[in-house]
Amino acid sequence: MVVRPSQRSILTNSRTSEWTESKRADRREQSTDFNLFHKTVIVTAEPANIKAVFATNFNDFDTAGRLDFIGQVVGKGIFTTDGEEWKHSRAMIRPNFARAQVANIDAIESYLQDLFRLLPSDGTLVDLQPLFFGLTIDTSTEFLFGESVHSLRGDEPGKPSGVAFALAYDTALQQCAIRATQPPWARLMGQSKEDLQNCKTVHDFVQRYIDEALRWRQTWDGEAKALPTGQYTFLFELVKETTDPEVLRGEVLNLLLAGRDTTASLLGSMFFQLAKRPDIWERLRLEIAELNGAKPSFEELKNLKLLQWCMKETLRVNTIVPTIIRNANKDTTLPVGGGNDGKSPILVQAGQMVFCQTAVMHLREDIWGPNAGVWNPDRWDTLRPGAWDYLPFLGGPRVCIGQQYALTEAGYVTARMVQTFSRLASRDAGPWQEKLTLTCAAKQTNVSLTRA
Ligand code: HEM
Repeated sequence: MVVRPSQRSILTNSRTSEWTESKRADRREQSTDFNLFHKTVIVTAEPANIKAVFATNFNDFDTAGRLDFIGQVVGKGIFTTDGEEWKHSRAMIRPNFARAQVANIDAIESYLQDLFRLLPSDGTLVDLQPLFFGLTIDTSTEFLFGESVHSLRGDEPGKPSGVAFALAYDTALQQCAIRATQPPWARLMGQSKEDLQNCKTVHDFVQRYIDEALRWRQTWDGEAKALPTGQYTFLFELVKETTDPEVLRGEVLNLLLAGRDTTASLLGSMFFQLAKRPDIWERLRLEIAELNGAKPSFEELKNLKLLQWCMKETLRVNTIVPTIIRNANKDTTLPVGGGNDGKSPILVQAGQMVFCQTAVMHLREDIWGPNAGVWNPDRWDTLRPGAWDYLPFLGGPRVCIGQQYALTEAGYVTARMVQTFSRLASRDAGPWQEKLTLTCAAKQTNVSLTRA
């Protein structure tokens, strides 16, 4: 199936921050060519085509000028480069994500306690989604820099403002999302004064950690494993590979971009769904009660079956990266979508963009059954999707390197919430609505909580 939404629908979807599930269903039905800034764009929700873009014909596509609209904030790094530059980044970063080093559960626990202090337990309404964004910027800055920005705790006297950093970073990323929807010529006008200032605040803040890591590098004997932070810290591992400050800043900010909003979005959407399903919350409580109140280990998290299904189902129904865009760097083909029956290959001309709609693919009734749009974690008891039918973390050479990190963090936070609160009730009358920036989060996750 090659879905070709009208120009109006695709622009509306990428500019406004919400569309309901019914609009999402409409989009599945649309089938017209559309033209974006004078170029025809192919939109596909077909596993075979998506496999071709990301695996079989990988070298025929690039990330469609991503650096042009995100580079102002995060610079060059694994997420914003292509070709040899990307290969080099990926080779440098990937070893850092070996299983033993992912998600430090003890560190997450301390930031989770900051979150718990902000949660009312007397039934007062609270929106969890922004708090999850606070939590994940606190945990990811600890993982990346060795020191958290403590956005949930507030600033400490005498230290550079982590809260100001978090705000400048969020605002600068929102500007990136706006730039992404603008025609290339609009970028010729340059950045606004406010945007430039936000980028500077972000860069200055990160520079402090880079300087510290470089100072440590000068004293490093080339062997000792212990880091001055006393625990695994991405930046200190990276200075063993390169001492170029610009490369260090780019890679660290690229990872912050790839890892922070995504995990927070998963948590926000999953809690929206869980709050609407008290039966599932109760079953999660029973499942997690087997730990007798102890904090779950990495291995234990993997064995909590219902918890794993809840995450998988949220990543399907509320796909965090709903559209992944690529640009053909040479004439190439996609295997299906052409001919009268749509079963023949189609030509993709050099310079043409392909919008891979994984969110649409995840809701196709011919793949997932008639209740494809319903959040039902139990479907994963028997479900074994085809390798390219379910791609929350993408696939092929650019598959997400933080998948294990994200699932450990989101699973741990959920298990600890279940241990701490006996009741979770939705205070949102309507269905889930999206907030679409560079990722897709819940517009809000209004709930009330009762302590166990
Ligand atoms: C639920 C959470 C997450 C989801 C759904 C997710 C999803 C994705 C997707 C779909 C891509 C491909 C994007 C593209 O090529 O356009 C990607 C790439 C990437 N992700 Fe994740 N991600 C998550 C969490 C994380 C975390 C926690 C980290 C790191 C700490 C991370 C690091 C990366 C990196 C570095 C890439 C770029 C890989 C490359 O281009 O070679 N992700 N992720």
